Amino acid sequence: MMDSVAWFPSKLFDIHKFFLSDSQRCATVAPPSWMTEKQKTTYSMEQRAKLWAVGGGKGGVGKSFLTTNIGVLLAKEGKRVVLMDLDLGGANLHTCLGVTDLDRGVSDFLMRRYEELEEGLVPTQVPNLFLLSGAQDSLNIANPKYAQKIRLLRELKKIEADYILMDLGAGTSFNTLDFFITADTQLLVAIPEPTSIENAYRFIKSSFYRQIRLYSETPELRDLVEESMDRNNRHGIRTPRELLLHLKELGPEMSDFAEQQTQRYRPSLILNQVRSNNDVKVGHAMETACLKYFGLSVDFRGYVTNNDLVRRSVLQRKPLMMQSPDSEIGQDLQRLLGNILQRQKVPPS
Ligand SMILES: Nc1ncnc2c1ncn2[C@@H]1O[C@H](COP(=O)(O)OP(=O)(O)OP(=O)(O)O)[C@@H](O)[C@H]1O
Ligand SMILES: [Mg+2]
Repeated sequence: MMDSVAWFPSKLFDIHKFFLSDSQRCATVAPPSWMTEKQKTTYSMEQRAKLWAVGGGKGGVGKSFLTTNIGVLLAKEGKRVVLMDLDLGGANLHTCLGVTDLDRGVSDFLMRRYEELEEGLVPTQVPNLFLLSGAQDSLNIANPKYAQKIRLLRELKKIEADYILMDLGAGTSFNTLDFFITADTQLLVAIPEPTSIENAYRFIKSSFYRQIRLYSETPELRDLVEESMDRNNRHGIRTPRELLLHLKELGPEMSDFAEQQTQRYRPSLILNQVRSNNDVKVGHAMETACLKYFGLSVDFRGYVTNNDLVRRSVLQRKPLMMQSPDSEIGQDLQRLLGNILQRQKVPPS
């Protein structure tokens, strides 16, 4: 983890200004300094889509399946929805959606083959649902550079949509964590298996450290956060909770900062491929463990059962919510989306 931030250009610490939570969106926020005067004037008037990120440390847990089908559900509700494939090294949202006519995508935007993201939107089989594909010919775009990421985030604001859902790749690379952190709604997908649970905890730790690092305003604080990421640090800080306690001991200002960062970090946990009631309990157990050991609230928002219909929908390249909306798993997805929208947790069984 120590390799994580040393190279970081200081400008990236403005990244959080690109996106605001629902409550913050109403507040007046100073426009980023890089904007022209004209852009600054319109900045606070701009309405933008709600930005959701779907991440999770492990590959193959169902991030793309969930992004696709949550997107279909929102579009069926009459919302204008854009699915954005940010798994640039292993994009497959286009396959989940059965979109074959891909003449441009995110990578073309990053390579400046077109200027406005809106131009990259591809219609899907579902009315109101559009794709910004991650499929690519150029292999060197899998890890966008800092300036490319900033341009992408800046242009995202201009897309005319109600929701933009970002499908993230597996792992805890900086780009993945940054897209996750900048989202208004952060969906963390895990399956009830030890390897996935382990990776989800790692993703939670990494994204929280990354968030707190991005919001740190003094070099001393940034150094402390960086140091804490190394398990053998001299302060003996091993977890986000211990880092937060350490900050609180540094005085009222740091104590307020720690409190703000804890409040800001609210990912929603989704369990996929659930097979039993005991599997569902894993979600509640993870919620409890995050609070106890990390000092962080991770809300268990819902689960989706394991079902062969998913494989069939992938083989047929047609989203499950189009093929079998009334199936048991279709109902799971509807319940899950309801919980996300109403910010409800799964009641204990
Ligand atoms: N609820 C489910 N029931 C049965 N199979 C499922 C379920 N969810 C996902 N799968 C299967 O798991 C496979 C992986 O899903 P998906 O591609 O969405 O994962 P991912 O997290 O996006 O993976 P990656 O990180 O590699 O992009 C799919 O091919 C699908 O068949
Ligand atoms: Mg995927």
